[in-house]
Amino acid sequence: MTLPVVASTREELAKLLAAARAEGHLVALVPTMGALHEGHASLMRAARERVAGGPVVVSIFVNPLQFGPGEDLDRYPRSLEADLAVCEAEGVDIVFAPSVDEVYPGGDPQVTVEPGPLGTVLEGRTRPGHFRGMLTVVAKLFGLVRPDLAVFGEKDYQQLVLVRRMAADLCMATEVVGAPTKREPDGLALSSRNRYLDGDQRPAAVALSRALYAARAEAAYGVCPALDAARAELRSAHGVDLDYLVITDLDLHELPADAPAGTPARILIAARLGSTSGQTTRLIDNMDLVIGG
Ligand code: PAF
Repeated sequence: MTLPVVASTREELAKLLAAARAEGHLVALVPTMGALHEGHASLMRAARERVAGGPVVVSIFVNPLQFGPGEDLDRYPRSLEADLAVCEAEGVDIVFAPSVDEVYPGGDPQVTVEPGPLGTVLEGRTRPGHFRGMLTVVAKLFGLVRPDLAVFGEKDYQQLVLVRRMAADLCMATEVVGAPTKREPDGLALSSRNRYLDGDQRPAAVALSRALYAARAEAAYGVCPALDAARAELRSAHGVDLDYLVITDLDLHELPADAPAGTPARILIAARLGSTSGQTTRLIDNMDLVIGG
């Protein structure tokens, strides 16, 4: 295993990529905010499969622009040493780990990427400005790395749909690849925010994925039976404060109760998990299912 080369400035990054491009290699980008886990490692493997000998670039940047007031920007886990070890184990070639000033040299940008109507539903409803900040930094990363493809996890499904939409609507030359969610053996979706979970919250967190699996098992009977099955699962869990539970088509439009058999769908959930310590943690998860199938 060889250590990835770490670039912390745009110039360093550009030099490293120029060499690879001169050799005609494809370039893949895996954008992250660090606190890397097996879910991120699987994105790196998906990137490697697609570019073979070309460089896999992992960006590690906790983007202030996508955190709202009162969110977890300050306590978001930062662990560069451990992150580099994950990148090394996955054969990543370049890690781009810039400072906030490097990404936003003039402070907050005046021109940002507007997510449109999809940015105001689900996560966008509780986290106003989040998707504008996320799309803006992804657009900047696409501009800096100019990747042929970029890999995003399905765990953040709304993010994936929006990045695809941005790339299509703004004619970006990067192919956006989605990779399946990785789960713990008990079903909990891997997330950097799982580090916040305490002993009280962990069983409640698992209830989220149990609800999604229950819905998938009932989806053959339609949208309402699937949602009822998920709700029944959540009722049996303690400390789950449901934010949303919804079944949509693959572009995140809510499905009607009479959606035709065979409709490919996504069920999405967000909830706050309480704890006796008073600390709450908000988690999201989602799963694919087929209505009437
Ligand atoms: O999913 C994330 O970690 C972030 O939203 C991303 C895509 C790296 C942009 O900051």
